[in-house]
Amino acid sequence: MGKTLPSAPWGVIETALRLAREPMETLDRAKSLAGDAYILKSVWGPVYVIANPTIVDALATNFNWNIVQTTPVTSESPEPFKQLAGDTSVTSEGYFHCHYRDSLRNQFSRSRLNDYAQILIDSFGQHSSGWQQKGVIEFSQSISDVTLDVVSKGIVGVEFTEAEKKQVRTTIDQIYNLQTRYLELGPAVTSWLSPLAFGHRRMTAKTRQLFDEKTVEASRCPFAKGYIFDFLQKEVGTKNPAIDIGRKKLVDELLGLIVAGIDTVSIATSWAVRILLDHPEIVEKIRAEADAMLATSLTATIGHEQLPYTRSVLLETLRLYPPFPLIVKQSVDEMIISDRVIPAKSPLFFLAFSIQRDQRWFADPLAFRPERWNGRLSEINQSTFLPFGTGTHRCLGWELALLEGCLILALLYSRFHVESASPTKFYPTHKIPYTMKINLTPKGGVRVRLRPRSN
Ligand code: HEM
Repeated sequence: MGKTLPSAPWGVIETALRLAREPMETLDRAKSLAGDAYILKSVWGPVYVIANPTIVDALATNFNWNIVQTTPVTSESPEPFKQLAGDTSVTSEGYFHCHYRDSLRNQFSRSRLNDYAQILIDSFGQHSSGWQQKGVIEFSQSISDVTLDVVSKGIVGVEFTEAEKKQVRTTIDQIYNLQTRYLELGPAVTSWLSPLAFGHRRMTAKTRQLFDEKTVEASRCPFAKGYIFDFLQKEVGTKNPAIDIGRKKLVDELLGLIVAGIDTVSIATSWAVRILLDHPEIVEKIRAEADAMLATSLTATIGHEQLPYTRSVLLETLRLYPPFPLIVKQSVDEMIISDRVIPAKSPLFFLAFSIQRDQRWFADPLAFRPERWNGRLSEINQSTFLPFGTGTHRCLGWELALLEGCLILALLYSRFHVESASPTKFYPTHKIPYTMKINLTPKGGVRVRLRPRSN
């Protein structure tokens, strides 16, 4: 029989208040008091917080069969993301999960990445003239026009009108807000509140209908040979009665990708832009790399390998400010790891934020040093670096995310001087104020003024 993990010293109410005020600092403080793996008394009941890469590794590999994504609140009222996207690769488990993950893999092949790169370059060109006219933009919102184009044109395969894009964006915002409430208040309260979320249900139904229509449009369009085409061909070919074949599943998957692929990249790049406002010397190096690349070619064969320094900046940004600082899972059956017991059906938080700022795994961990990544791309597969999660549900789009992030930063700094448009107090790079919902964003957004580069 194993021993229980040590507990953080606060009761449920004090924990909730501390988390509401300073979530990351609270989890870090608990780690310094209770150790790398501890129990937090939360509104969810005891949460098992893991800030140790060896334990994360053991859970994600040896016990991967025993770890699932979070469960529905109730079967009539599932968690908000499931209400929108049903059982997708992102939310399902076991055979379903393997099957759909496998059919998604094609979307991230080398040739498909080239298509996405071209869409991104075109979309950046179109939107950036508007940003220039406006003068001041909120970076994350503005760049999400581009990341939305990449997923919608690249994966769904058809254009969305401005009104349709707005609809998609509002739905994603609602999902993030409701998922946050789910995390803050716990499953019981969320379940009790959810009949009140009528607006969200209407919006969800409308967005599902929009995607239903788009799949019909895409399947009729001879040029939309992306995901829709691959999926229909594969599914219709297998005729496996164990799998829910059909348009509902296709719409589920597309919506899962939309939620997974748009804000994640815009948040990661907006952290980079926020950090770089204080690091003009790093901007100059990105610019030099971008200018050299643009001088040779800006074709659809661009990969993140051609922008190694810019990629290092992005990785270093993801290390200090992972968009998902907590990777939330749940155990199925009891597990004993290093003589410690984790009971069945326990919420598990893998604390990416703390692991990535721990001096045992990263030298001088609070310094922003892109150079530490030079030639060390293999490190992104380690359990010490978790912005893309770990285990069987690890991010499928990570390479697309790096490609998009590198191209966005390269195009931005090669074309513009970027200045802060808000009176900013100076903060050390590792202490920039943040807002923590389900994801971590720079507090108040990143308002910047873009001035075209004349040389
Ligand atoms: C910087 C950008 C991104 C970050 C930080 C990120 C992060 C994550 C994380 C933390 C997970 C959950 C992993 C886990 O549960 O262990 C995930 C899953 C996923 N992501 Fe990403 N992601 C990014 C971009 C993208 C993009 C661009 C796409 C595709 C359009 C994408 C598609 C997916 C999919 C399909 C999954 C579900 C995989 C599964 O459950 O099997 N992501 N991502």
